[in-house]
Amino acid sequence: MMGFFDGSASGSPDTLPNNTSTSTATTSRSIETPTTPSSPAPSTQQPGAPQIDFKKITDTEDGFSGMASNLFEQVIVGNPYFAAGGGLMLLGTGLAVARGAMVRASGFMYRQLLVDLEIPSKDKSYMWFLEWMSQYKHRSSRHLSVETNFIQHDNGAVSTKFSLVPGPGNHLIRYKGAFMLIKRERSGKLLDMTSGTPFETVTLTTLYRDRALFGDLLSEAKTMALKAQEGKTVIYTSWGPEWRPFGQPKKKRTIGSVILDSGIKESILDDVKDFLKSGKWYFDRGIPYRRGYLLYGPPGSGKTSFIQALAGELDYNICILNLSEANLTDDRLNHLMNHIPERSLLLLEDIDAAFNKRDQTDASGFKSGVTFSGLLNALDGVASSEETITFMTTNHPEKLDPAILRPGRVDYRVLVGNATRYQIEQMFLRFYENETAKAKEFVDKAIALDVPISTAQLQGLFVYNKNDPDGALSMVDTLKTPNHVF
Ligand SMILES: Nc1ncnc2c1ncn2[C@@H]1O[C@H](COP(=O)(O)OP(=O)(O)OP(=O)(O)O)[C@@H](O)[C@H]1O
Ligand SMILES: [Mg+2]
Repeated sequence: MMGFFDGSASGSPDTLPNNTSTSTATTSRSIETPTTPSSPAPSTQQPGAPQIDFKKITDTEDGFSGMASNLFEQVIVGNPYFAAGGGLMLLGTGLAVARGAMVRASGFMYRQLLVDLEIPSKDKSYMWFLEWMSQYKHRSSRHLSVETNFIQHDNGAVSTKFSLVPGPGNHLIRYKGAFMLIKRERSGKLLDMTSGTPFETVTLTTLYRDRALFGDLLSEAKTMALKAQEGKTVIYTSWGPEWRPFGQPKKKRTIGSVILDSGIKESILDDVKDFLKSGKWYFDRGIPYRRGYLLYGPPGSGKTSFIQALAGELDYNICILNLSEANLTDDRLNHLMNHIPERSLLLLEDIDAAFNKRDQTDASGFKSGVTFSGLLNALDGVASSEETITFMTTNHPEKLDPAILRPGRVDYRVLVGNATRYQIEQMFLRFYENETAKAKEFVDKAIALDVPISTAQLQGLFVYNKNDPDGALSMVDTLKTPNHVF
């Protein structure tokens, strides 16, 4: 208790006489202080009067501020409402202001220091990026999604590869020394109607100064994806209104493995290469930059195989569309033909189908499949700034309407027929290297049969007699029946 009173007496109690209580001294100081300057010099010897050291009081509490602090103490500190409520209010306001400032500052910092890159699932680089990230070592992810790939090997065996791609959620990676936050988000409600998959985005966030790394990262992902396709041909087929890769990219077929009659391959290849070089010539003259090729001939003569090999040779992919497909309508055909992936040949198989169905209508009067005029419009309507190379095949050229054969629709047509002497010999030598004598003997025997022989039939016979040219020679008679089963 004494300690408390000592403090409030501000160091004066030692000057007070022993018979005066401490609390009286405190009050008398505060009341008497203003009169101090006008009072005569205190006479410490005056009998009966309390001895107050005025000098000490004026020294410690100087005039006006002393008054103010006294007032403050009385009004604020002395008042319990102000002391508690005001304090709380000040504290609350202070905190709110500080919090607002923090939010603004972090928003400002985010805008100034960080940079985002959003990749929507519609974009090509989306899959490239996920694939890249699944193989990237310096990352920490706890959410993974599985992506299964069947790989068909050259020997026909199938193996399965599971890639663990980053799943929806946040992932942190360190790329070339910079930290990047990767956020994969799936929209719960929006569906991509064409593919039936939910819309997704991947957002990459990094420091503003490291923004150039986004470009590096994306091109690295692209190079990686394209490397996987190197030496391969991607085959696209139609899936609703869009083109989708059909299975894994196929190993390129060498053009040497397709044996057409002498000179045919070379002249088609020269024509296509010349067309690809003449883009400026077409644009200067205002001619649509497209060229149509028609390969006609009996089944199994190598039309499809040749076009695939040609795509491989030119380093192009192929978009295959079969016009005899039942659910292909004119609208879809038109849309597909105008949205061909870049560096792709368009292959329209069995174009005679459009002519067969010319008059076909169902009960409700709708035409099914592609109509003749639909095909012509689609061929004419292909307008792309890129080159458009269309290959068409048919087994029944006699069914084609002359309208389709006019230049601009079909600019180059060639018969890919049954095997000629030249082809039979070349095929034999391809399967049985250096067996020139036996090749001649085989050709003579085959021609003597005097029946049309397709190159597909020859392949069947040679595959059956692997490494056995004599076996092939002895079985030459089987070529008489086109659908002979070995
Ligand atoms: N000229 C050829 N050279 C090498 N292989 C050929 C040749 N012709 C056919 N073949 C082989 O025969 C099979 C069928 O060939 P392909 O599918 O190319 O024939 P197509 O002319 O397209 O037949 P269709 O008119 O029935 O579509 C393939 O496996 C192919 O390897
Ligand atoms: Mg074919």
